[in-house]
Amino acid sequence: MRIKGFVGVLLCLCMMAAVLSGCGKPANQADGATEAPKATEAATADEAKGDGIDYMALVNKTHMLPDDWEDKLETVHMTNSVGDDVEVEKKAYDAYLLLKAELEKEGVFVDLDSARRSVADQQRIMDDFTEKYGKDYALKTVATPGYSEHHTGLALDLYLIIDGKDVVENEDMIQYPEIWAKIHEKLADYGFILRYLEGREYITGYGYEPWHIRYIDNAEIAKEITAKDITFEEYLGAYQGGKAEIDCGTSAIYTEEELKDAVIQVECKFAFWNGCELKSIRYAGDEASTDKELERMNAINPDGKYTQMVKFFMDFHTPKDTGDMTFNPDSDYNDYGWWLARKDNGGWEVVTFGYGEE
Ligand code: DAL
Ligand code: ZN
Repeated sequence: MRIKGFVGVLLCLCMMAAVLSGCGKPANQADGATEAPKATEAATADEAKGDGIDYMALVNKTHMLPDDWEDKLETVHMTNSVGDDVEVEKKAYDAYLLLKAELEKEGVFVDLDSARRSVADQQRIMDDFTEKYGKDYALKTVATPGYSEHHTGLALDLYLIIDGKDVVENEDMIQYPEIWAKIHEKLADYGFILRYLEGREYITGYGYEPWHIRYIDNAEIAKEITAKDITFEEYLGAYQGGKAEIDCGTSAIYTEEELKDAVIQVECKFAFWNGCELKSIRYAGDEASTDKELERMNAINPDGKYTQMVKFFMDFHTPKDTGDMTFNPDSDYNDYGWWLARKDNGGWEVVTFGYGEE
C-alpha cells in the first residue's frame, strides 16, 4: 500500500468525496451505503482451532477483525530491501520465504512492502488517501480501519525487484502482468491466494491488486480457490450470488477505460451492501448524459463542479435480513440507477443512486 506515486493512476479517478447522504436523495435510495460497515461475525470455513488464530478468517468490507485476534496472533519482524520494518504472522512469513525462494529459481524477485497493520496504521493510510485522492478512490483502495485484512498479519503486499531495482509503486508494479502471472501461479502451493481479483470488485469491494496475497495455511483449499477462480468470499459462502453481468457499454463521449473506471467505482460501493447479490450493471447510454442531469448532479453536490456525468443501471437482489439497509428484504431491484460525475481531468464520483429522476 503505497501512497507516493499514485498520481499516474489517479488522473481519471476521483478527487472529491462522493455520495452526499441525505442530499437530493432519490426515493428508495439505501441509507448508509458509504458509512463504515456494521460489524458482522467473522465468517469462517471452520471454527477457530485451539487457541491459535483461525487462518480461514474472513476480514473484508463487512466482516471486521475478530475481537480476540490480537491476543492469539504471533508475529515476526523483518526488514525489507528498502529498509522498512515489516511485521508478519509467523507461519505466513515462513510460507512466504518458501514462496520467495521458489520464485527466485525462476528469476522472479519479490520483497514485502507491508503485512500486518494496526488499526491506527490503517487510519493513517485512509486519512492520507482521502485527503489526496478523495473519499471514493480511498474507499476502493483502502479498507476502513478495523476491516482491513492487513490487521490479521496474514495479508502480504509484495513488491517486485527487477534488474536489481525495487519496483514498489502500485502504478509501476501493475505494468508487469507477466511477472505477476508467474507469482500467482505459485501462490497456492504455499497456502496463499490472490485476494482482490480483477472483475470481482463487486464482491471484494476493492480494485484489482496483483500484489496483495493472503495466507490461509492450507495449500489444498488455496488450490481449490485458485482453480475455481473464485474469491475467498465465495469460497466461504459469504457471497452467494453468481457471476454478475457487467456491461460497461460503448460511448461516443467516453473511452472504454473511462466507463470501466466508473463501473468499478459503483461496484466498490455495492460491496458494502452486505448480502445483496449483484445481477448486472449496464451503461445507460450517452443519451442519459444530458445537461439537465449534469445540472442535477451539481445541485446535489455544488462543490463537485462537475463537467461530465454518466448513468448506469443495476439489477440486484436483497438478502432476507437487510440489517440497517432500507431495502425490502428478499426482493429484486431492477433498473436501479447510479449517477456518477467528474470534473475535467478528475476521477468519477458516485453522486447518487436509487430510483431517481431521468
Ligand atoms: N488495500 C487493502 C484493501 C487494505 O487496505 O486492506
Ligand atoms: Zn494489501
